[in-house]
Amino acid sequence: MTTPIRIAVTGGAGQIAYSLLFRLGNGEVFGPDQPVILQILEITPAMEALKGVVMELKDSAQPLVHDIIATDDPNVAFKDANWVILVGGKPRGPGMERADLLSENGKIFVEQGKAINDNAASDVRIVVVANPCNTNCLVAKSNAPDIPADRWFAMTRLDQNRAQSQLADKAGVLLKEVTNVGIWGNHSATQFPNFEHAKISGKPATEVITDREWLEGEFMTTVQKRGAAIIAARGKSSAASAANAALDTIRSLITPTPAGDWFSAAVWSNGNPYGIADGIFYSFPLRSDGKGNWEFVDGLELSDYAKSKIKATEEELLSEREDVKTML
Ligand code: NAD
Ligand code: LMR
Repeated sequence: MTTPIRIAVTGGAGQIAYSLLFRLGNGEVFGPDQPVILQILEITPAMEALKGVVMELKDSAQPLVHDIIATDDPNVAFKDANWVILVGGKPRGPGMERADLLSENGKIFVEQGKAINDNAASDVRIVVVANPCNTNCLVAKSNAPDIPADRWFAMTRLDQNRAQSQLADKAGVLLKEVTNVGIWGNHSATQFPNFEHAKISGKPATEVITDREWLEGEFMTTVQKRGAAIIAARGKSSAASAANAALDTIRSLITPTPAGDWFSAAVWSNGNPYGIADGIFYSFPLRSDGKGNWEFVDGLELSDYAKSKIKATEEELLSEREDVKTML
């Protein structure tokens, strides 16, 4: 029998987890022959609600789910975990920026970084979803000195998916025709969804969508502010699409990236080929060998427009780092 992989998920009684947990054990990410053990973390007051989620997971009778551990102890949740998905934390409400969550959510990642460091499997990979995800990831990584820097990812895949979908709609093509969408920088309103290297049916997106004003205007703003638009419409932040993007992130890391294409996640910036400062989690276009290892996509020519955008989002991340310096 194939050895089960252990997947730790935090925030197990929350909205994102309610979608995510049920898709981790159905074979769509790790394959139809790969059993999983779900190790779910919540804060003590939410353990009763988590009990209900566990009942529903059991009632889903997914044959690949070999065990479910529900706990309020990070050391138990992260024990021997091969994948850790850090979702637990407060979401923003209307009128807030994600960075407003830093002081409350940041401290969670001090404790969880340490617990991952002390307990996780030697091949652990960590995807941070809770906001502000880039800087939470920095806090967690800084408190986990034994885990290699290339194992940490902050999620900008939802931004990539949003950008891809906007471009497909505008061009009137199916989503699969849109490739090479790269998200640069922070998962925030300063991010740069780079349309200049995107392709539609193999051609530069800027040749297919010639309305540059739309690309620099409505397209950029829609992607940058989509999270806030969903909060305004739903009264709650995105959940099913966020869970979907977390699964896409993992899938992209364990599947060889198709030739010529890339995907986005925020990774440790050291060694990047674009002159972005060291020591932050910055989203870049990446390629994977399908075994969890990734590399920066090198050699993209950046216009002056793109350079100004990638700088602005870098500056925001450096300022967020300053705000959490006592946690690093
Ligand atoms: P939610 O409030 O529905 O659920 C969060 C859960 O986390 C709650 O059940 C809470 O009890 C739990 N929690 C809080 N502190 C915890 C801790 N220390 N350990 C374990 N669990 C803890 O929120 P949600 O809608 O599921 O969103 C979760 C986070 O994901 C938010 O920070 C949100 O802003 C973020 N998010 C990120 C993206 C992205 O693209 N990166 C997208 C959507 C949401
Ligand atoms: C999103 O992009 O939907 C999430 O980061 C939630 C938010 O606060 O915008």
